[in-house]
Parts: sequence; structure tokens; C-alpha cells
Amino acid sequence: MEGLLDGFVPGSAGYRYPVHNFDIAEIQAYEDGPLIVRGNFELRDENGELIDPGRGTIALCRCGKSALKPLCDGTHTLIRKRR
Ligand code: FES
Repeated sequence: MEGLLDGFVPGSAGYRYPVHNFDIAEIQAYEDGPLIVRGNFELRDENGELIDPGRGTIALCRCGKSALKPLCDGTHTLIRKRR
């Protein structure tokens, strides 16, 4: 998978697992949920001003109902339950 490197779990010879490459941004879509962004990214508002998310992994709202846009606040789970 692009954006991932193979690695070894220390102590378990030959076992391979995905290791995130934090030199690039990795965006993963969740069904009926947010876009999870990991890695090297900048988050900017509609005016181009930097937003400090305060962490290296964020969830971007794509349902449009978050009170913390552009970040996901979990409201999508309530929408899913109403269906
Ligand atoms: S995707 Fe989570 S609140 Fe919109």
C-alpha cells in the first residue's frame, strides 16, 4: 500500500506489519465517517491561515454536520443512527 513501509516487530522474527511513513500525508476515508489524515500535512482555513490541530493525526469532517469544522466532532455517528 502506498504511504506505508514494511517493518518488523522487534522480537518476532520475520513478522511484517505496516509502518506509517510520516514524510508524506496519508488520507484514509472511513465509511459514513471522516477522512483521517496522518503524516506531514498543513491544515488551513478558507482564508489560507494555518490551523494548528495540536496533533499529528486529525479527522476531517465530510458529513458537513460537525460543529468543529473542518474537524470531525463525532456527529456523523448520530446521523448514521438516525437512518
Ligand atoms: S464526519 Fe464526523 S462529524 Fe462529520
